Amino acid sequence: MAILKIARMGHPVLAAPARPVENPAAPEIRALVRDMAETMLDSPGIGLAAPQVHVPLRIVVFQVPAGRDDGAEKNPARVPEGLNVLINPAIEPLGEEMEEDWEGCLSVPGMTGRVPRLVRIRYAGFDVDGRLFEREAAGFHARVVQHECDHLDGILYPQRMRDLASFGFVEEIRKVHGSDAGDEGSRNGQT
Ligand code: NI
Repeated sequence: MAILKIARMGHPVLAAPARPVENPAAPEIRALVRDMAETMLDSPGIGLAAPQVHVPLRIVVFQVPAGRDDGAEKNPARVPEGLNVLINPAIEPLGEEMEEDWEGCLSVPGMTGRVPRLVRIRYAGFDVDGRLFEREAAGFHARVVQHECDHLDGILYPQRMRDLASFGFVEEIRKVHGSDAGDEGSRNGQT
């Protein structure tokens, strides 16, 4: 187990597309996922993609904290509790509806901004046992998955913003918008 160093915006590893994992069930992948989970929880964050720890592979980990499943009314599927691992993920839109909400990112520390995301998606990927699975997600769950999978394509959330007027330091934005905005402990957490 190890806590890994997190790359910050400007590092090339965050701007390049990540490679597919050849064998999702390989022991070294399981070990990397364990370290990513430890790093995410230590930060603390609610999601982390492998490029954020300088590993250009298509792997993300995330959790949907209790009480943050604001997509539940839009999607009767239960949000998985605990740590979620997604290897070689693929996302498919379910409808065209978008909504804006605050996001933060461990690679853009101290900052927050409003990001439009699809409200409903279906996603598929492999777990660490090499099993392919598929899920539907809405609301916060869908937002986290889209944010993390963007990392695998070299995209950071400011590149998804429609209006940079809402981009700023968490400390400042919170003075205006309250604790709704920003990093851990807020609505959306850092990913
Ligand atoms: Ni992020």
